[in-house]
Amino acid sequence: MARSALLNVMVQAAVKAGRGLSRDFGEVQNLQVSLKGPGDYVSQADRKAEQTIRHELMRARPTYGFLGEESEEEKGTDGAHRWIVDPLDGTTNFLHGIPIFSVSIALERNGEIVAGVVYNPAMDELYTAEKGGGAFMNDRRLRVAARRVLSDTVISTGVPHLGRGHHGKYLVELRNVMGEVAGIRRLGSVALDLAFVAAGRVDGFWEEGLNAWDIAAGLLLVREAGGFASDKAGGRDVLESGSIVAGNEHIHKALLDVLKKPVS
Ligand code: IPD
Ligand code: CA
Ligand code: CA
Ligand code: CA
Repeated sequence: MARSALLNVMVQAAVKAGRGLSRDFGEVQNLQVSLKGPGDYVSQADRKAEQTIRHELMRARPTYGFLGEESEEEKGTDGAHRWIVDPLDGTTNFLHGIPIFSVSIALERNGEIVAGVVYNPAMDELYTAEKGGGAFMNDRRLRVAARRVLSDTVISTGVPHLGRGHHGKYLVELRNVMGEVAGIRRLGSVALDLAFVAAGRVDGFWEEGLNAWDIAAGLLLVREAGGFASDKAGGRDVLESGSIVAGNEHIHKALLDVLKKPVS
């Protein structure tokens, strides 16, 4: 698997930030933590990881724009390129000592995601994709799961946190999906949910109320692993809408249909 120079820069930044997160994870009780809103935590570890990534990426491409969860957006002088970064996806897991969290870095060119990296430091799993070049975990090529029938599938989802709202609507969706599938999982890191779809570990995923940094890299992983991903209305504007439904061609469609069903 040959990686482009830009993908190498992204990998280096993700791994460096991931190593810092692993160190902080070992001393999580000493970290400063604050709330952005009800149930929405941020820590020193999130901010430090973003600084590391920003430094690495901007050093390599000083003219590119930068959108990260924990800092002001920088437009950049190059109108075509933008980094989209979630320095720590799964902060709630991280702060509770649950080793399911990741670093997510994507590169957007003229409004399209062309490269993505998701790194899970606790499992030392590095997911990479470049547009047209396939998706990989470490050096292994990824392919979405082949199951076609919903009742055979394990589907992952994101449960809205305390401040998110729409809990009633979500419960209807959850109930409808639960009634059709073999099992449901809630990992707590959207980037890893999508990486797991790409790797065929889960058959599908849905969540809404997300930001571009949660989804950008994972979206490319799914598509480059032969999967389908859309917003909840079935459109391709996933980053804009903040909602995502993903799986192989059959499971993606079946999930969209179930999510449209009213409460029964
Ligand atoms: C969160 C995680 C979580 C999802 C939330 C996200 P953060 O990101 O991805 O799985 O359910 O919607 O906000 O805040 O830990 O980067
Ligand atoms: Ca957050
Ligand atoms: Ca996130
Ligand atoms: Ca985050």
